[in-house]
Amino acid sequence: MDPILSVENVTKTYTNGFQALKPVNLSIRKGEIFALLGPNGAGKTTLISIICGLTNRSSGTVRVAGHDIGTEFRAARAAIGLVPQELTADAFETVWATVSFSRGLFGKPRNDAHIEKVLRDLSLWDKRDSKIMTLSGGMKRRVLIAKALSHEPRLLFLDEPTAGVDVELRRDMWRVVQSLRESGVTILLTTHYIEEAQEMADRIGVIRSGEIILVEDKATLMQKLGRKQLIIELQEPLDAIPAALAPFELTLSADGTALTYAYATGGERTGITALLSGLEAAGIRLHDIRTHQSTLEDIFIDLVRSRP
Ligand SMILES: Nc1ncnc2c1ncn2[C@@H]1O[C@H](COP(=O)(O)OP(=O)(O)O)[C@@H](O)[C@H]1O
Ligand SMILES: [Mg+2]
Repeated sequence: MDPILSVENVTKTYTNGFQALKPVNLSIRKGEIFALLGPNGAGKTTLISIICGLTNRSSGTVRVAGHDIGTEFRAARAAIGLVPQELTADAFETVWATVSFSRGLFGKPRNDAHIEKVLRDLSLWDKRDSKIMTLSGGMKRRVLIAKALSHEPRLLFLDEPTAGVDVELRRDMWRVVQSLRESGVTILLTTHYIEEAQEMADRIGVIRSGEIILVEDKATLMQKLGRKQLIIELQEPLDAIPAALAPFELTLSADGTALTYAYATGGERTGITALLSGLEAAGIRLHDIRTHQSTLEDIFIDLVRSRP
């Protein structure tokens, strides 16, 4: 199946010479919720702005629903809805007016039934005649989503949808996103909250310093979380792992003083007993043993911090 979004070797150097994106490659599948997770300044908004045509890329190609954003911009842009990071709304307009006006901006003919559906899906129908300025923060965010959905996009970008939002509103937003996906919209959201990516996404991409350093199914990431490491400190350093221990797929620390064994916590057999016998048979003497279980947070912090 063709991806709904494909980003190939996209780079961005701002006019001040700062390279905000190294070559980025990313492919988004129809119907998924993809979370782009990264710390502030990683390049999330830059990437989204390029895909949506608000910022020029320095090189590379972007295709949305098969349309090249360079040569078929209008068709590509029409397939996209964007909920920007910065909240902006016309305070004096009513909910209905602002959302139906947005649709018109894309040259789409008036369709009151669609606007009604969007407002109902976002629990905004009762507020349709209210002026934006009278709404709560959470409702204003919903209005921005409604605007982004007004022209029936197939791919919705939510740039930090819950930054600075309290916990209750965040959960509310998560429910909204899930129900949008059920209605058939593909969603790419950015976040710097690990919990958010874990809660909502089907796949997670980690971006750091303008580089996507990992893309993985959430299930696979969670499986990694279900793995533990047994760290065996040795009395004397090893130059290499003895061949007889190869089946355990151990890793040796750089200084040769520790072996690490990874095992699944859910499995019936951990293999630890066999490993310990193997170590004894190989004449390796142990100094200490400890276990470590990584969390998504560890994986993220490792990826973000420890890379050059
Ligand atoms: N117009 C600009 N000119 C120069 N640098 C910019 C500009 N916009 C953003 N940057 C820089 O690019 C980097 C990525 O920014 P951004 O894409 O907003 O990150 P994120 O959304 O992940 O927080 C940051 O270091 C930011 O300071
Ligand atoms: Mg941003």
